[in-house]
Amino acid sequence: MRILATGGCGFIGSHFVHQALDRVDVECVVNLDALTYSGHLGNLEGLSEDERYLFIHASINEKEGFQEILSEHEIDLVVHLAAESHVDRSIDSVEPFVKTNVDGTRSVLEAIHNLRKKGTDIRLVHVSTDEVYGSLGPNDPPFTEATSLDPRNPYASTKAASDLLVRAFSHTHNLPAVITRCSNNYGPNQFPEKLIPLMTLNALEGKSLPVYGDGMQIRDWIHVSDHVDGILTLCEAIMDDNIEFGEVFNMGADNEIPNIEIVHKIIELTGASKEQIEHVRDRPGHDRRYAMGFEKMAHRFSWSPKTAWKHGIEETVSWYQERTDWVDSVRTGAYREWIDTHYR
Ligand code: NAD
Ligand code: TYD
Repeated sequence: MRILATGGCGFIGSHFVHQALDRVDVECVVNLDALTYSGHLGNLEGLSEDERYLFIHASINEKEGFQEILSEHEIDLVVHLAAESHVDRSIDSVEPFVKTNVDGTRSVLEAIHNLRKKGTDIRLVHVSTDEVYGSLGPNDPPFTEATSLDPRNPYASTKAASDLLVRAFSHTHNLPAVITRCSNNYGPNQFPEKLIPLMTLNALEGKSLPVYGDGMQIRDWIHVSDHVDGILTLCEAIMDDNIEFGEVFNMGADNEIPNIEIVHKIIELTGASKEQIEHVRDRPGHDRRYAMGFEKMAHRFSWSPKTAWKHGIEETVSWYQERTDWVDSVRTGAYREWIDTHYR
C-alpha cells in the first residue's frame, strides 16, 4: 500500500503514521498536513530518516495541489484524518469547521474522483466520530452503525456532513470508501485542549480543573493505538475489496466513564488536590452520553480494543508528566517558527 494520510501531524494521525510504518505491507506513508494549531512535527519524531516516510506541508482545501500530490506519489489509499476536532472551538466559531471538515472533505473526494476518472485506482478511508449519532439516554443501548445521524453540536454536524458526502461519492460515483466512527480517544500527543491532557497538565501545575456542569457526562474511552489498529484493519479490507463502498464501521472500547471519575483518577495519579476541581458553566448543548457498539468490527475482522483502561490512563498521564519538552513546544508555538524555516 502507498498511503497518504491527511492530518498526520495531529493526535490520531501521528499514531496512524507510526503504526502504519510498522506494517510490512505499507510501501510508503505520505503525511499531508496544514500544521494548524493542533498539528505538530514533534509528533513524528524519529521518522525523518525513514525512507518510506514523507511530510508535505499543504492543505486538503487546495484541491489541485492535493490531486497533484496523489498522482506524483502514486498513492493508492488516502486515509483522511485532517479536521478541526474540538467541540468547544466549534461553538465559538463554526467557519473553520465548515471549511476543513465539509469543504476540505469535498476537495479530497473530488481529487480522488478526478484521478479515478483518468483510470487511477485510489481508495479512501474516512475517519469520523461517534458524535455524529448524537447523545444517549442513561439506559439506551450503545450506538450501532444503523443508528440515525443526529449531530447536536457544530463539530458533530460538520463531521456528519462529511460522512454524507463520502456516502454520496461512493454511491453516485462508485468511489471505494469506508467510513470509521470511533469513540473518544486518549493517549500521548493529544493537544492539551481536550479533557485528559488538559486536566493532567492543570493538575500537575496546581491550576484549577474546570469540570463542565455536574461532570456526569459519559464518554466511551479508547486508547488511540487500538483505534489506529482498527483503521489499519479497514485499510487492508478496502484494498482487498472486502468492503461494500460507503460502508460504516463503529469502534469503541466498552469503557464508559463519567468525566468527574476521570478527573478523580488524574488527581490520584498526579498527586494533585481535590480542591483544584472547579465546576464551571456547562458546555452549551453538551451531549450527555456516548457509547459505541463495535460488534460489526469484531465479527467481520476479529477487531477488539487491547489496551486496558487502568494501564492506558497510567501510561498516558506519565507521558504528559515526563514530556515537558513536548508540552512546552505545543504551547509556545516555537515549532511554528521552526517549521517556517524548514518546510515549504
Ligand atoms: P487533531 O486536531 O489532533 O489533528 C488534526 C490534524 O489535521 C492536525 O495535524 C491539523 O494540522 C490537520 N489539519 C487541519 N486542517 C487541515 C487542512 N485543511 N489540511 C491538512 N491538514 C489539516 O485531531 P485528532 O483528534 O487527531 O482527530 C483526527 C480525526 O479523527 C478527525 O477527523 C476527528 O474528527 C476524528 N476523531 C477524533 C476522535 C478523538 O477522540 N480525538 C475520535 C473519533 C474520531
Ligand atoms: P473533549 O475532550 O473536548 O471531547 P468531546 O467533547 O469530543 O467528547 O471533552 C470530553 C468531555 O469532557 C466532554 O463531556 C466535555 C468535558 N470537558 C470538561 O468537563 N472540561 C474541560 O475542560 C474539557 C476540555 C472537557
